[in-house]
Amino acid sequence: MLIAGNWKMNTDVPEGRTLAQVIADRLSTQPQAFDDVDFLVCPPFVHLPAVRDALDDAPVAVGAQDMHAQDEGAYTGDVSAPMLTSIGCDYVILGHSERRKYYDETDAAVNAKVKQAKRHGLIPIVCVGETLEQRQAGNAEAVVRAQVDGALADVSVGESGALVVAYEPVWAIGTGESAAPEQAQEMHGLLRRDLAERFGASVADGVPLLYGGSMKPHNAYGLLSQPDIDGGLIGSASLAADSFLGIAEKAMDVLEEETT
Ligand code: PGA
Repeated sequence: MLIAGNWKMNTDVPEGRTLAQVIADRLSTQPQAFDDVDFLVCPPFVHLPAVRDALDDAPVAVGAQDMHAQDEGAYTGDVSAPMLTSIGCDYVILGHSERRKYYDETDAAVNAKVKQAKRHGLIPIVCVGETLEQRQAGNAEAVVRAQVDGALADVSVGESGALVVAYEPVWAIGTGESAAPEQAQEMHGLLRRDLAERFGASVADGVPLLYGGSMKPHNAYGLLSQPDIDGGLIGSASLAADSFLGIAEKAMDVLEEETT
């Protein structure tokens, strides 16, 4: 189970460092409590070194929220994959709906970034999800399929995995209204089948499929207990250690249930 925090454009650097420190402290005082959960936080770019340092030996990976598709060059304001790996990033979120909406990021642009991430050993978290209008028009599945098709065109994924897909219905992001667990499972099942057609069933089974969109401690259990939901990409609830770890506790409950 992968519990990932997307801090978006929140907290200044000292606040971000403190949040990371609190998470690290809580994990070190309860080492067994979260044994089977993989943690990831994705703070803003400028926080990355401080957050990486604050997490020190804590079992929490660090990722970025975006990156450029080129190694280097005259791209004012951008950040490259080599920059991210040089400060210890393991993951990068790509194609988040906010980037698609505010920066007109296309599936082709996401695809170029996915390939670049893989060239540099970064694990891409490819975000897909339909808007409310698209869902109401009955197009949710077609939209998500097309986004996956575009983002993963000519991308190969071996047995080692190194790919994460996040289903984030746009209407659920930041609204407090998450998808119903069955609704989310329906799309996750479709994603799993799509990945199996693309890469084979054993690779598809190893790709963590995250749900994102108003996941909170109170609704996490229902979502995480769905068969094809392997974790969460968490926005606002990742900005406080209590709610972030509260969701991880629900993930542990689900995992314990599965083994009994
Ligand atoms: P939210 O954001 O949890 O605040 O809805 C999720 C995301 O956008 O990744």
